[in-house]
Amino acid sequence: MFKTKFTMSILSVVLLIITARCAKEDVVTFAVGGAPYEVEFWEILLDEFESQTGTKVNLLRQPTDTDQRRQGLVIALKSRRDEPDVFLMDVAWVTQFAMSDWLEPLDEYVEREKMNTDVFFDRVVNLVDKYRGKTIALPVYVDGGLLYYRKDLLKKYGYGKPPHTWDELVEYAIDIQGDLRRTNPDFYGFVWQGAQYEGLICNFLEFSASNGGGIVIKDGKIVLNTDENIEATQLMYDLIHRYKISPPNTFTEMKEEEVRMFFQQGNALFERNWPYAWSLHQSEKSEVRDKVGIAPLPRFSRGRSVSTLGGWHIGISRYSDAKSKSFEFLKFVVSYEIQKKLAMELGWNPGREDVYSDDEVLEKSPHFADLRNVFDNVVPRPNLPYYTQISDVIQKHLNAVLADRLAPETAMIEAEREAQKIIEIYRR
Ligand code: GLC
Repeated sequence: MFKTKFTMSILSVVLLIITARCAKEDVVTFAVGGAPYEVEFWEILLDEFESQTGTKVNLLRQPTDTDQRRQGLVIALKSRRDEPDVFLMDVAWVTQFAMSDWLEPLDEYVEREKMNTDVFFDRVVNLVDKYRGKTIALPVYVDGGLLYYRKDLLKKYGYGKPPHTWDELVEYAIDIQGDLRRTNPDFYGFVWQGAQYEGLICNFLEFSASNGGGIVIKDGKIVLNTDENIEATQLMYDLIHRYKISPPNTFTEMKEEEVRMFFQQGNALFERNWPYAWSLHQSEKSEVRDKVGIAPLPRFSRGRSVSTLGGWHIGISRYSDAKSKSFEFLKFVVSYEIQKKLAMELGWNPGREDVYSDDEVLEKSPHFADLRNVFDNVVPRPNLPYYTQISDVIQKHLNAVLADRLAPETAMIEAEREAQKIIEIYRR
């Protein structure tokens, strides 16, 4: 009697484990963040996926800030949790995740499903989504920094074209801001991302590379302390403190959404932002609807216009219990149909090149035709497994310049020295 009871309870425990396992394999958890309207968009997509395939995908909501999103995922992956199964990663940290061996290689699944990966931006895939010859992620959308400008105001003040150089930008901004301040004391010439976070690095790269500088790491040596970088950092400082065309909270608060809202409320002439801002500026409630133009970012007189390569990539956790279902979901997200939806509904720039020649997409967003070229010329951030630590050091020093606590040259010297120490640790 006792024996039968014992066998029964063992059996039920085994059954329970099997059911729990099956349940885990059947349900996918997808980690994604962003502004509220983005998360809403994902929720609708998840429902659509469930009704098409019968697979339930739970949304694990993350913050908007890229650094915070990374931290959340790192905690789960370091402790080898089986959730989330699938997630979006910033282009800036895909290599770190691959190098930590947290990403499931996708090649086998791609082959099995006969999926065509030639449709994605080649340069982006080779730069970001390949690690040791394996495909470890795929691009969901690509980002490049753009200059948004008020068409109506430039026209009103007799400027025929958006500025090509930073000097021109400063000149137009001082002029128009000066006049508009009489009726709107909150008006500023130029808003951009200066808070201490990853976005500051993206902005710095655009200022510095448009002067022939940048963040160069070669043969284990980082070079930051150059005349080009010092000049670029000085310009960032001057925009706030000398020309006063960028608001004083640039270095304390300005991240993508703060900048976007500032411009969208009609309080700025120029804005540096990613492509996502376009459809929001054009939305019904926007104060700047139909008044906005997009142009390449300005440059120093001897440099060229540069956009930082941004964007988000989808990958599957090595520790997932639902890898096949997760791949099914990944395939859905990067499918033509969904990528077109991303473009049409959010104004994001798909990771697939074929969507850029879609008639409906071009009709809704004619600037997509030019954006395709922007993505061929973007400048990437250093593609290193310890990039985020280097980024933290540079962020801290740049932000200190903007807060008027460090001179540009000292900041470059010190950031270079500190970043070099990090490189030494990893090269040992
Ligand atoms: C955007 C970009 C991303 C970048 C981030 C910085 O999300 O896509 O690559 O790191 O902005 O804030």
